[in-house]
Amino acid sequence: MKIDILTLFPLMVEAGLEEGVVGRARARGLLDIAVHQLRDFTSDRHRVVDDQPFGGGPGMVLKPAPLCRAVHTLRERRGAPDAVVMTTPAGRLFTQAEAERLAALSHFVLVCGRYEGVDERVREALSAEELSIGDYVLSGGELPALVIADAVSRLVPGVVGHEGSVEADSFSTGLLDFPHYTRPAEFGGLRVPEVLLSGNHADILRWRRTEALRRTLERRPDLLGTAILDEEQQQLLREMNDAHTLERDRQRDKESVT
Ligand code: ADE
Repeated sequence: MKIDILTLFPLMVEAGLEEGVVGRARARGLLDIAVHQLRDFTSDRHRVVDDQPFGGGPGMVLKPAPLCRAVHTLRERRGAPDAVVMTTPAGRLFTQAEAERLAALSHFVLVCGRYEGVDERVREALSAEELSIGDYVLSGGELPALVIADAVSRLVPGVVGHEGSVEADSFSTGLLDFPHYTRPAEFGGLRVPEVLLSGNHADILRWRRTEALRRTLERRPDLLGTAILDEEQQQLLREMNDAHTLERDRQRDKESVT
């Protein structure tokens, strides 16, 4: 997997790629991630990358020429990428499904947006796609690029040590992850659920699947619309929903009496 990241703050991006799972995979040659300074692709003495917006208004806009020159130069040096992705809060939402799609490519370029935005013609000229990592505004695309590079990298075979841990991750199953515990069995008067100490693997599996479902129902019911549930999980969900409705009705009765 080859990823090229174009940014005005290469040290910030490099720092996020040096350690942990991604850092180790780069050192082992499983990931070829290169970070490039966008200013290196300017042609003027002052290495200017931005300019005022046509039509007026606050902030600066990234000029098209340095970005396009950068991507064309990378094409020559590093080979033609399968995709060019720009980070912007106005992009399509980056999800686990998008991470899986990018992980199936062998080479893509990530362009970190900055200032008020990027000249719109860049998207067209480079056939670039735009991705947002969530509905909030960051001061630049460096953190989003790191988020995307990390989520994609861990899907590359061999990057995460234990293959099973990627498959069991939240979102890979379409549900949130179940709660985790480690020793000691009692901490500050709080005990680990007994079933996890029982050694009964079938019971443990059932408990984990139930808790994953319960959490998803409580915290992210929107995910249940697309999650693939087996018969047992569908039955569990019906029971949880019934219990929820019962509890809500009980609360309403209580309120109407007082
Ligand atoms: N740049 C600024 N905010 C962003 C976001 N939420 N996602 C992607 N790029 C961004």
